[in-house]
Amino acid sequence: MDNQQLQGLVEQMTLEEKIAQLLQLTAHFHEGTDNKGQVTGPMEEMGITEGVVTASGSILGLSGAQAVIDVQQAYLSKSRLGIPLLFMADVIHGFKTIFPIPLAIGCSWDMELAEKSAEIAAKESAVSGIHVTFAPMVDLVRDPRWGRVMETTGEDPYLNSLFARAFVRGYQGDNLKENPDRLAACVKHFAAYGAPEGGRDYNTVNMSERNLREQYLPAYKAALDEGCEMVMTSFNTVDGIPATGNEKLTRGILRDEWGFDGVVISDWASIREMIAHGAAEDDCEAAYRAIRAGVDIEMMTPCYVNQLPKLIESGRVDEALIDEAVLRILRLKDKLGLFENPLRAADPEREREVVFCEEHRNVSHELASKSSVLLKNNGILPLGPDANVALIGPFAQSNDILGWWSCVGAKEDAVQLGTSLQERLSGGKLAISEGCGIDSISQEQIHAALETARSADVIVLALGEESAMSGEGGSRTNIRLPEAQLELVKQLKTLGKPLAAVIFNGRPLDLHGIFEEADAVLEAWFPGSEGGAAIADILVGRVNPSARLTMSFPQSVGQVPVYYNHYNTGRPMNPQKTEERYVSKYIDSPNDPLLPFGFGLSYTTFEYSDLTISGHEMKAEEQLTVQVKVTNTGSREGVETVQLYIRDVAGEVVRPMRELKGFEKLLLAPGETGTATFTITEELLRYHHSDLSFTSDPGTFQVFVGSNSRDTLEQSFKLV
Ligand code: GLC
Repeated sequence: MDNQQLQGLVEQMTLEEKIAQLLQLTAHFHEGTDNKGQVTGPMEEMGITEGVVTASGSILGLSGAQAVIDVQQAYLSKSRLGIPLLFMADVIHGFKTIFPIPLAIGCSWDMELAEKSAEIAAKESAVSGIHVTFAPMVDLVRDPRWGRVMETTGEDPYLNSLFARAFVRGYQGDNLKENPDRLAACVKHFAAYGAPEGGRDYNTVNMSERNLREQYLPAYKAALDEGCEMVMTSFNTVDGIPATGNEKLTRGILRDEWGFDGVVISDWASIREMIAHGAAEDDCEAAYRAIRAGVDIEMMTPCYVNQLPKLIESGRVDEALIDEAVLRILRLKDKLGLFENPLRAADPEREREVVFCEEHRNVSHELASKSSVLLKNNGILPLGPDANVALIGPFAQSNDILGWWSCVGAKEDAVQLGTSLQERLSGGKLAISEGCGIDSISQEQIHAALETARSADVIVLALGEESAMSGEGGSRTNIRLPEAQLELVKQLKTLGKPLAAVIFNGRPLDLHGIFEEADAVLEAWFPGSEGGAAIADILVGRVNPSARLTMSFPQSVGQVPVYYNHYNTGRPMNPQKTEERYVSKYIDSPNDPLLPFGFGLSYTTFEYSDLTISGHEMKAEEQLTVQVKVTNTGSREGVETVQLYIRDVAGEVVRPMRELKGFEKLLLAPGETGTATFTITEELLRYHHSDLSFTSDPGTFQVFVGSNSRDTLEQSFKLV
């Protein structure tokens, strides 16, 4: 339908029908199926009528082709105007074929594979009846105490923006109406949900608008520039006003400044939660603030349906605001082709063929092997095929490796590490022992572990957080491995055998207690459905690890927030003069993180040389070329992610010590030298000034190129 036809449909609707389109409920309220889908928030007393339910515009959390078909048909049989339901769900890193958590996918620095994972997730979801995914989540993060860091791609705005685009492309494709195997995407959580004070979920977010625009907004904007159809508002306040009722943020920046005319949905109950925030006296005030802020759909609370009629009646809200919200929702339904085909791609037969098929699992396997980061290796990895190995730890044979937000992925389908390693150590020997629980240990377990390890030549520890220790509502003040696991490490260290550690977790951890003790450390994150196989491939050397961290690993939680693109301060510590007192430092810890942004090792080694720049002055309309040689100085082929950072030495506001501005992957054979080439333009040098203008300034810039944000070669130039 064209806009005029959609407008005509709006005009046929009663006010109650229009307002009901603005309500999203879980399947609990609807007829047609016993499958009630996923509940991802607190269930509230709704106090809504049957009439409102039969007119409500969308459902969240329900999937399953037949269930969706049954609900849609039951709903339409009662719909006066035949306006179909939208079905939305949290397909965050896979539907049933689960990919590594997004924080792991971020470490792949592989946009094509990220896009492919989203395309596969979309296809499995679409044949199972879903139309919209509440993804990508692109909240920038700098605090590993926050449980939802697992859901984002990390601490850098440039890289997060590239991933935001890749995920939107994968979910949506080019034309949602012509290709029903794709989903509409919903970028979230607008805005700055990833910066809660204390790293405590849902907590206050306090920052200047300049910092918000400089660091936190770019990735949402990138998703919208890629055509993302929806935006979800966040639970938190932004500058004292909840995002869901923040006119300046959501109507001002998102709609008026950026020109976004798609659907905005509140996060679960976040309209009514304005009362708890202290930004609304009651449901009526909450509804008023949200509709004026441009929020179209209310998720799981009844403020709109119960209060908007009164607000219109009293003249406080113009019915035109309702009409524009309904029009946006109908336009999305039309883009998805729902008026022509309300069942879209829902198809029980195809569902059986497509969902969790081998082709999809193979992509998950590949992505997992490219997302796991080798953090330390003094040579004991890779294991030889005839190695005599003791695999010990709570993750040795665990299937809790999908991570939070794993949709309908089944843990029992996850490929376990022990099984996979057994298959790969054909000529060797593998003994497995749990060693301890996630956070419990007994003398019997220790005894059994020591016995298992005694007969082995090398110990592989499989440690980590259980999946519920991160994700939504999963914030921690202690980001170390559980004490029981650190005790197991101590016990096994007494044997004096080579020891490698594989860590399964949803956040950067304080790795003290394992990082020094182990001879090798492999960060597996939550690697998804094929995780055990992918990690085993790396352990035995079938895959040479190539992933690079996208979030800093702190020395301790006391350092948090610690991130690479920090400012210098007026009294930076001189690493050569650590005894100086009156400088910005700790007296009980280094300033630097244990492992920096961009860090990761390989089974080979790379040497950087001959960093050149095509000139040391550049006019705004010119560009410079930066090149560096990289040599594979090791004994096996490997991929190096060459990273380009730039520092604006002096700005109108202080500028980060370095900012990622580009990267290039080089696949190099042993002994081969390759060249990475970057182009510097004036556009890369722009930043938000104190008056929020986004421009560059003439002056000196430093250029850093290297294997991570710390170990780099340097050049410089002047913008004139
Ligand atoms: C949750 C999450 C949000 C999710 C929504 C629907 O509370 O904050 O990311 O999309 O509710 O499940």
